[in-house]
Amino acid sequence: MNLTLTPEWQALLSHKTRLEHQHLRELFAADEQRFANFSVELEGLLVDYSKQRLDADALQDLLALAHSTNVTGWRDRMFAGEKINFSEDRAVLHTALRHTAFTPFPNAEHDVMPQVRLVRKQMRSIVERVRSGLWRGFKGDAIQSVVNIGIGGSDLGPKLVTRALSAGEHPGLDFYYVSNLDSAHLAPLLEKLDPRSTLFIVASKTFTTQETSINAQTARTWLMAAAMEEWAVAKHFIAVTSSPDKAHEFGIPDSNILQIWDWVGGRYSLWSAVGLSVALAIGMSGFERLLQGAETMDKHFCAAPLESNLPVLLALISVWNTNFLGAETSAVLPYNESMRHFPAFLQQLEMESNGKTVSRDGEPLTCRANPIVWGEIGVNGQHAFFQLLHQGGWLIPCDFVVSASSDYPLPGHQAPLLANCLAQSAALAFGKTEAQARTELSAAGLDEASIAKLLPHKVFAGNQPSTTILMPSLDPFQLGMLLALYEHKVFVQGVIWGLNSFDQWGVELGKQLASRLLPAINGDQAYDTHLDASTTGLIAYFRRHGNS
Ligand code: F6P
Repeated sequence: MNLTLTPEWQALLSHKTRLEHQHLRELFAADEQRFANFSVELEGLLVDYSKQRLDADALQDLLALAHSTNVTGWRDRMFAGEKINFSEDRAVLHTALRHTAFTPFPNAEHDVMPQVRLVRKQMRSIVERVRSGLWRGFKGDAIQSVVNIGIGGSDLGPKLVTRALSAGEHPGLDFYYVSNLDSAHLAPLLEKLDPRSTLFIVASKTFTTQETSINAQTARTWLMAAAMEEWAVAKHFIAVTSSPDKAHEFGIPDSNILQIWDWVGGRYSLWSAVGLSVALAIGMSGFERLLQGAETMDKHFCAAPLESNLPVLLALISVWNTNFLGAETSAVLPYNESMRHFPAFLQQLEMESNGKTVSRDGEPLTCRANPIVWGEIGVNGQHAFFQLLHQGGWLIPCDFVVSASSDYPLPGHQAPLLANCLAQSAALAFGKTEAQARTELSAAGLDEASIAKLLPHKVFAGNQPSTTILMPSLDPFQLGMLLALYEHKVFVQGVIWGLNSFDQWGVELGKQLASRLLPAINGDQAYDTHLDASTTGLIAYFRRHGNS
């Protein structure tokens, strides 16, 4: 099916013609109830999309697009445990990980819940022993430092959540996340840690990822240098993986291996034992609140009519901005300092899932899929790249995310933070007209010649679309809802674009080449002959200046 030739797509093209030159100022002026009509609140999570360049008619046809591409059918197939990740022959069941009722999931015949509950029980036991000080290191010390070694989905989700909820973190435990192969990541950390009280979590679905394997081996060597005994590994290493045999080979005993399954995608694995560091930080009950928040979003996604279905709405807005208004990038702007890893998390979630040009049927897509996702803490961005958002002439839809209250209640901080967040989305949307700028300049006492000179610089085009997501506070439940919202948004986008959001073949080529290049970098001349001139030249430079 050529998506762009469907009646729904064609109808949207005519909305584009109608709306592309309409200003948000006009859309707001035309509808006094615009906020009420274009916002949804779910269990305290408020999503205001009134500053998107849409009206009710365009939204109607976007919803028609969701119907015609069978979003609900695909959703039901995902929740039923069908192997919708057909290129890897896998079901997509991360939603089972936040299924909290004592009922089968996805159904009685293929119930995955017994294994999920077993691992949750294992997690609980580890969490209780570490947090209470019962888990002891090789010299009998309680654990003080937890180091998660992982990369991609085995790093970004747990790191985001642990930092986001750090206000409720166990006071006696410190958390570190090591992902980079660059020894500058692990080396300074090892220098300050005490092997007697350090617990490593090696999180790797495959247990073959080079970055994680090398970091884990180095950590093991560091521990062994202090402990001198193999049995110490059992006291300081936990593995989270779908390849327990490989973790076993590494020397981690079965009791310390927490399983995940092939139906948990790496970037959707936070809810599994990959979230162990989160549970260690905020306790198992806190982790369960996170799961409940996500489960609440799952239920909403499955039950809410499409016109008030948050993941569907966010996906449709993104499709509208990307394919009809022509946005090439989208920015995510969390205002809570503790949400600083949110942009990186979303980059993997969105771009690894939907950064594709081939349809499920292997045909070229007839439209562009995911925009480039980028972002930064909002207030910091204000003093860096917001100038370009305001006056750079690019169409860049933004997601503003902030909690109404702070867990770090220094007086006098939260209200200005919120004021900045709301001011930016309003300024981006409504801008400043020439007439407004002129009035301001003349009120400041400038003469006509000075006004004429300054005026072009003082005008803000506005009409920059944004969605604002507010949470009452940044607690595990709200965060669980927020992250599941984006997960399902990405899924709906993938369905509409007609692609498989759950594979990532695009990352394989670089991995294969890296292992092929290693011998050449290490000095094996035989390999050089097979390499292109650029790579050969760069390797020669490395040999002159580098170390292994
Ligand atoms: O970058 C590819 C990828 O497979 C991601 O999808 C995944 O999150 C990451 O590598 C880490 O993989 P693993 O958990 O198997 O080490």
